[in-house]
Amino acid sequence: MLSVLLSLNLSHLGLWASGLILVLGFLKLIHLLLRRQMLARAMDSFPGPPTHWLFGHALEIQKTGSLDKVVSWAHQFPYAHPLWLGQFLGFLNIYEPDYVKAVYSRGDPKAADVYDFFLQWIGKGLLVLHGPKWYEHRKLLTPGFHYDVLKPYVAVFNNSTHAMLDKWEEKAREDKSFDIFCDVGHMALDSLMKCTFGKGNSGLSHRDNSYYLAVSDLTLLMQQRIESFQYHNDFIYWLTPHGRRFLRACQEAHDHTGGHFPQDPTTGSQGSSLAPLGPSGTSAIAEFQPPFRQRMGPQAVTLSAPGPDQVIKERKAALQDEKEQEKIQNQRHLDFLDILLGARDESGIKLSDAELRAEVDTFMFEGHDTTTSGISWFLYCMALYPEHQSRCREEVCEILGDRDSFQWDDLGKMTYLTMCIKESLRLYPPVPQVYRQLSKPVNFVDGRSLPAGSLISLHIYALHRNSSVWPDSEVFDPLRFTPENVATRHPFAFMPFSAGPRNCIGQQFAMNEMKVVTALCLLRFEFALDPLQPPIKMPQLILRSKNGIHLRLKPLHLGSGK
Ligand code: HEM
Ligand SMILES: *[C@@H]1O[C@H](CO)[C@@H](O)[C@H](O)[C@H]1NC(C)=O
Ligand SMILES: *[C@@H]1O[C@H](CO)[C@@H](O)[C@H](O)[C@H]1NC(C)=O
Ligand SMILES: *[C@@H]1O[C@H](CO)[C@@H](O)[C@H](O)[C@H]1NC(C)=O
Repeated sequence: MLSVLLSLNLSHLGLWASGLILVLGFLKLIHLLLRRQMLARAMDSFPGPPTHWLFGHALEIQKTGSLDKVVSWAHQFPYAHPLWLGQFLGFLNIYEPDYVKAVYSRGDPKAADVYDFFLQWIGKGLLVLHGPKWYEHRKLLTPGFHYDVLKPYVAVFNNSTHAMLDKWEEKAREDKSFDIFCDVGHMALDSLMKCTFGKGNSGLSHRDNSYYLAVSDLTLLMQQRIESFQYHNDFIYWLTPHGRRFLRACQEAHDHTGGHFPQDPTTGSQGSSLAPLGPSGTSAIAEFQPPFRQRMGPQAVTLSAPGPDQVIKERKAALQDEKEQEKIQNQRHLDFLDILLGARDESGIKLSDAELRAEVDTFMFEGHDTTTSGISWFLYCMALYPEHQSRCREEVCEILGDRDSFQWDDLGKMTYLTMCIKESLRLYPPVPQVYRQLSKPVNFVDGRSLPAGSLISLHIYALHRNSSVWPDSEVFDPLRFTPENVATRHPFAFMPFSAGPRNCIGQQFAMNEMKVVTALCLLRFEFALDPLQPPIKMPQLILRSKNGIHLRLKPLHLGSGK
C-alpha cells in the first residue's frame, strides 16, 4: 500500500520535475532570443560577413584560425564588423585605432560571456574582476610592480635563462632543429615563481611540468569553448567530455598553486597532480559543486606540499613573528606575496582566502604564458631576419662588455633590441583578442554608435596589421618604433598590453624579462629557421603555434661564457 502511494507520488514528482525543466528551458530560450535581438539590433549599422544559420561565424574561425580570416574581413569591412559565435553571442569586432580608443580609453567591464569561462580556473582575480573590487585590488597590487621591486628580478631572469641555455647547449649538439616553445615556457614559469613567490626551488620539478601542461590544455580548451556555442552554457558544458577535461586540467593547475583542499597528506604529495578527479572517485559535477574555492578553509594556505604552498606557509609563519612584521613595515617596497598576505592579515583591505587564491592563480597564468609567447615568437623573428639578429647581437655585446651578466641600467640602453621586441609584439601579439561589455553607450568617429550592454571584441592582431597605420604591414621593420615614428602614430595603434585603465599590470615586468632573456639568448646562440617546419599561428587565448616553434641553434661562445 505504502509502496504504491510512494511510487504514485514519485511518478507525480517526475512529471512535475520534467514540467519544471521544460518551463525553465523555455524561459531560458526566450531570454536568449530577446538578447540576440538586442545584440543584433545594436549592430544594425555594421555590415559584416555572411552568417551560418546555426554557427554564425564560428565555423570559418575554427577552420582557418580566426587570425588571418579577421584580417581579410577587416579589409572588406572598414573599422568594424559583427562577429557571431553561434546565434546568441554576437560581438562588434573592432580593429581601427579610433574605434579602439572610443572603447578602451574607458574602463568598461570584461564581457562576462567569455571571462566567466575563466572562473573555475583563475577565479575572480584582477583579470576578471570589475567595479570597486577590481579598483581595490588593482590599487593594492600596483606597488608590487614598482621599479624598486622589479630591479632585483634582473638577476633572477639571468639565472633562469642560463639554466635554459645550458639545456639548449646539449640539444644543439645534435645539429637538428627543435621546438623552443616548451623550454621557454619552463624558463618563464621558473622565473615568475622566483619573482612573485620569493624563493621558489631552482630547477624544474615534475610539478612545474604538470602545471605547464595543464595551462596549455586549459588555454586550448577555453579557446575551443569560446568558439563553440554548444559549450557556452555552463550546465551543458560540465556534462560534456570537453568540460570534464577542463575541470580535470583546472584541478591539476590548482594542485600546483595550492588550490587543492584536503588535509589528507597523500593528496598533498608530489604525485598528486596526476590523481584522478575526486578524492573518492566522484564525478566532475560532484567535484564542481560546491566550487573548490568555497571549500577552501584557511587551512588551504597551510598545506605542506612544496612549491608556492610552502612559500605562502613560511611567509605566513614569518608574519606572525612581530619582529618580522616590523621588518616588513620598514621595508619600503614589498613584493607580490608580501602584499597579498599583508592585505589579508593587517591592512585595511582584507582579502578572503578565495580572493587570495584567485590572485595567485591569475598571476601564475598571466605572468608566464604571455611572456613565453612573446619570447618564442621574438626568437622566431630573429631567425627569420638574420640581419636584425646580428644588429641586436652587436648591440647587446657592446653593452655587456667584459661583464658576465646584465644589470638594471643596461636595460635602457638596449634600443635596437627593444625596437625589435616591439615589432615582434606587433606582428605576433601574445594576447591576440580581448573582450568587453559596454556599461554605457559609445559614439564612434564615423557617427555610428552602440548602446550599453553591447559586446566588443578588440582584435589586437588585426589592429596591428592595419595597412593605413602600418605601411607594408607584413614587413618586419623595427624602425617603426623609433621615437619620431612613435610620436606621429595614433596612440591606440599599438596595444599588445591593451590600453587604458584595464591595461596589463605586468607590462614593465614583461618588457624587462623579454629584454634580459632575449639578450642572453642572442649572446649564446645564432638562431636559424627550420624550413621544413614553419610555425602555424594559432590563437589559444595566447598566441601559440600549432606545431611548436622549431629553430636551429648554433652555439657562439661570445661574451658571458657558458
Ligand atoms: C608579453 C607579455 C604580456 C602581454 C602581451 C600581456 C598582455 C595583457 C593584455 C592584453 C591584458 C588585457 C587583458 C584583457 O583585457 O582581458 C593584460 C592584463 C593583465 N596582465 Fe598582462 N601581459 C603580459 C605579461 C604579464 C605579466 C608578466 C603579468 C604579471 C606578472 C601580467 C599580468 C596581467 C594582469 C594581472 C592583467 C589584468 C589587469 C587588470 O585587468 O587590471 N601580464 N595583459
Ligand atoms: C585602418 O585604419 C584607418 C584609419 O585609422 C581606417 O580608415 C581603415 O578603415 C582601417 N583599415 C582596416 C582594414 O581596418
Ligand atoms: C644566481 O645564481 C648565482 C650562482 O649560481 C647565485 O649565487 C645567485 O644567488 C643567484 N641569484 C638569484 C637572484 O637567484
Ligand atoms: C647570471 O647567471 C649565472 C648562471 O646562473 C651566474 O653564474 C651569474 O653569476 C649570474 N650573474 C648575475 C649578475 O646574477
